[in-house]
Amino acid sequence: MNLLAISDLHVRHAGNRDIVEGLRPESDEDWLVVAGDVAETVEDVVRTLGTLNERFAKVVWTPGNHELWTPPNDPVRLRGEERYLHLVQTLRGLGVVTPEDPYPVWRGAGGPAVIAPLFVLYDYTFRPQGTYSKEEALEAARAAGVIATDEYLLHPDPYPSREAWCRARLACTRSRLDRIDPALPTVLVNHFPLVREPTRVLRCPEFALWCGTEATADWHVRYRAAAVVYGHLHIPRTIECDGVPHREVSLGYPREWRSRRTAPPGLSRVLPDPGERR
Ligand SMILES: [Fe+2]
Ligand SMILES: [Fe+2]
Repeated sequence: MNLLAISDLHVRHAGNRDIVEGLRPESDEDWLVVAGDVAETVEDVVRTLGTLNERFAKVVWTPGNHELWTPPNDPVRLRGEERYLHLVQTLRGLGVVTPEDPYPVWRGAGGPAVIAPLFVLYDYTFRPQGTYSKEEALEAARAAGVIATDEYLLHPDPYPSREAWCRARLACTRSRLDRIDPALPTVLVNHFPLVREPTRVLRCPEFALWCGTEATADWHVRYRAAAVVYGHLHIPRTIECDGVPHREVSLGYPREWRSRRTAPPGLSRVLPDPGERR
């Protein structure tokens, strides 16, 4: 019985669809954590998670930035929080666990542990060296030719900005995490890394602006994490912070995994802890 994880399925790409088609549990009792960036259209997100939900005993999802885009080709025109809540309602209807549902407790091997899917977004505090405000940081990113598509497609409505939405998400998520039984460890699942460390190896360091928030830097300690699961960077590896493994479990784009000359990343085991650190 395994707690498995993957993120950044990006099923718009045919090569990735083939891989997702082949994903299977190792046992009938395995759970699967999907840490965001399944797809951009509501239809693709729901179809993919619905298929996985039929194969795994439980599927736990948290949105990536791509799920929150309102792309021109999606007949669902909802923006921002309305789009997020529409996805939550639809996926919940299929039995998928979302960040708005009670956190399930993993009682299989390596447990017990509270599995907490988090949606806390980013707030432009992972700033490039020598910049001290969002404006300065964005200016430096623009000068380096780096601007995330989120700036055009990830609408924060009804919040005035993505960082305001992030602040609201941090507040409601903290109060949920504070109420977890302190006797239980957790597995924290978020699309974005909870600590800045993994962004240090980005090819374009300015891209870190769209990758997280300093406000979660101590959450793996504060909330007794047995593991942290994240994606978004498309750099699959495990680092350890304060003795806690932080696992980047992305599949990524076909051009990325094909360039590595190794088999494309499949499911990563989170519990029981496989021990290996990449
Ligand atoms: Fe991604
Ligand atoms: Fe992402």
